Amino acid sequence: MNVQDHMWLDPAVLRPLTRTDVYALDLRGGEDRRSIRLRGEILELTGGRLASGVGDDGGVRPNVVLAAGGCGLADDDAFRMSRADGVLRIEGNTSLALLYGFYAYLRDLVLGRVVREGDGRTESPSHPMRMIDHWDQIDGTVERGYGGASIFFGIPGENDNGSYEHERPWNHADPFRNDLGRLTWYARLLASVGVNGIVLNNVNVRGGARRLIVEPYLDKVAELADLFDGFGIAVYLSVHFAAPISVGGLSSADPCDPDVRAWWMHTAKAIYERIPQFGGFLVKADSEGEPGPHEYGRTQADGANMLAEALRPYGGRVVWRAFVYDCHLDWRDRTRDRAVGAYETFQPLDGAFADNVCLQIKFGPVDFQTCEPANPLLHSLRATNIVVEFQIAAEYLGHQIDVNFAPAQWIDVMGQPVDGGSDGVPLSRSLRARALDPANVGYAGVANVGMGAHWTGGVFAQASLYGFGRMCWDAGLSAEHIADEWAALTFPGAGRNAQGKIAAILKSSNRTYRDYTAPLGVGWMFAREDHYGPSVCAFEYDRWGGVNRADRDGVGVDRTSTGSGLTEQYPSALRDLYADPARCPDELLLFFHWVPYGHVLHGGKTVVQHIYDTHFAGVERVREYVAAWDGLRGVIDGPRFENVAERLRMQLDNAVAWRDQINTFFHRMSGVPDERGREIYP
Ligand code: GCU
Repeated sequence: MNVQDHMWLDPAVLRPLTRTDVYALDLRGGEDRRSIRLRGEILELTGGRLASGVGDDGGVRPNVVLAAGGCGLADDDAFRMSRADGVLRIEGNTSLALLYGFYAYLRDLVLGRVVREGDGRTESPSHPMRMIDHWDQIDGTVERGYGGASIFFGIPGENDNGSYEHERPWNHADPFRNDLGRLTWYARLLASVGVNGIVLNNVNVRGGARRLIVEPYLDKVAELADLFDGFGIAVYLSVHFAAPISVGGLSSADPCDPDVRAWWMHTAKAIYERIPQFGGFLVKADSEGEPGPHEYGRTQADGANMLAEALRPYGGRVVWRAFVYDCHLDWRDRTRDRAVGAYETFQPLDGAFADNVCLQIKFGPVDFQTCEPANPLLHSLRATNIVVEFQIAAEYLGHQIDVNFAPAQWIDVMGQPVDGGSDGVPLSRSLRARALDPANVGYAGVANVGMGAHWTGGVFAQASLYGFGRMCWDAGLSAEHIADEWAALTFPGAGRNAQGKIAAILKSSNRTYRDYTAPLGVGWMFAREDHYGPSVCAFEYDRWGGVNRADRDGVGVDRTSTGSGLTEQYPSALRDLYADPARCPDELLLFFHWVPYGHVLHGGKTVVQHIYDTHFAGVERVREYVAAWDGLRGVIDGPRFENVAERLRMQLDNAVAWRDQINTFFHRMSGVPDERGREIYP
């Protein structure tokens, strides 16, 4: 594929500009040719009229100046942008801050925003950690990857469709893809929205990937770390908790065993000697079959703190996942539920983690579902560094085929007050105050890019990556604002009318997908293996715990004190809200309660009629997307037009399949006819 097939930064506007290097800046060639030069910490954009109509003095005096140091900003990533005497000045404490400021300036240019003479603004990131987690594997496949093969690993030309089910042959001598050009473009894209950390490999650290933390692979990791460092992005690796055994040849991985501790200390030292800017380790322990400290009768804090001790001398972090739950549930037992697992394991350990450990918590208590409340741990922890985990890859959200702008859901969940009441600080802004070290909190998103077309398979899937970066940077942005930005930046030549139509599709897309897949928060009615397409009871009698508990009388999962007790894990205001079916928000009703089909929702409809209506409405909205997009034929360039058109057709097929299976299932179960007499299959 062509790397010019970019996302939101027009490659004609900016060649890769790192915070340390000098690159020529071509503004579409010809008369508009400009250049950037590095002079110490001062970058000057020379050549005259770049920002519309100001500062043009024939190229003698710069009209944009980037100046480091002495501007009094508290945050080293923050920048100030102001205009005086016709010169736009971007200031920050560090070259990275200038880079962020410069990207913001470019965004302003395309969006037509102008900093007027005498005006200025300061931007400072909401979250210090802005991470992308790749689930890439060294055979070139990507677990839950829908954008093609890994951009980091694999043999060029092979495995380009990606898959995660089985290990494929890989090149032991050099498992890296070595496409540094493409990675430079990628680093630039991420930096342009403020991402500052990246994990190269999957949390399930399989086979040879366990050895990435030792020679001979450190040289290659160092090469990538250098490349990403140029854009202010620290490289991390996922590690296998049992690496002392699988890599080190020891007989144990017990975190209290001195030999095990010494092995990690030695391993960390060797990494940092080679890669001084290394970010740290990401760990999935005691989860879905991965090894962990529980195997030795130790706590999660024992395991994490052991690694923290090894990384501490070098300033490294341990990002420790809270995705610990029982995946051997018995569907007959209604008191057990995967949703309660993280809180049960980690709440008692609040305050027990070292200050360079970040607890990475999935935003919801289950698993990146289309409709979930916030994870109760996000409300309850008071002395722990929290990194909230989102999945940009659309495993449960339509595989980057169905358009689904997930930031709408994420921003909504993280907007909830931390105390669950009406006037607390939103979760999104509460992390620093509850941290052991406020520098060690933030957001992580599971990546959705690969070697496939348009980086993300579907063009619209780029918007979720863009939106993730933007919501990390500025917790105050609305999903609507971000969707507007993405449409305008990605299709700059299409005109406002077209951009508005594109943004409108994005804005309603998350709701639309939810409407035809997860009525009232019940969820888990998708195909068992790949999680795409309907299969109503695929998880119903299964050990993974995704149930809907539908019978002839009603539907939903009792997660109150008479069921699994999840409601009891929330602060009192939310517990009281969620535990009462009369008060519980409609969209979460079936997530928390089993209710009869005739239960009347706040909007006045019965549950079963709501299910019918939303499934019909979801399909209709997809039809509207198809028509709206078709109206842009000739306005959007061919490859991107066809990509979206094809995916929308696939989405329509998918939505129809969902509608018919779900509606038929609930009609058969309940025996209640649709009050509008629409076609439901007997
Ligand atoms: C989901 C996903 C797995 C992944 C896991 C995780 O369950 O299906 O592929 O490994 O999440 O987040 O660790």
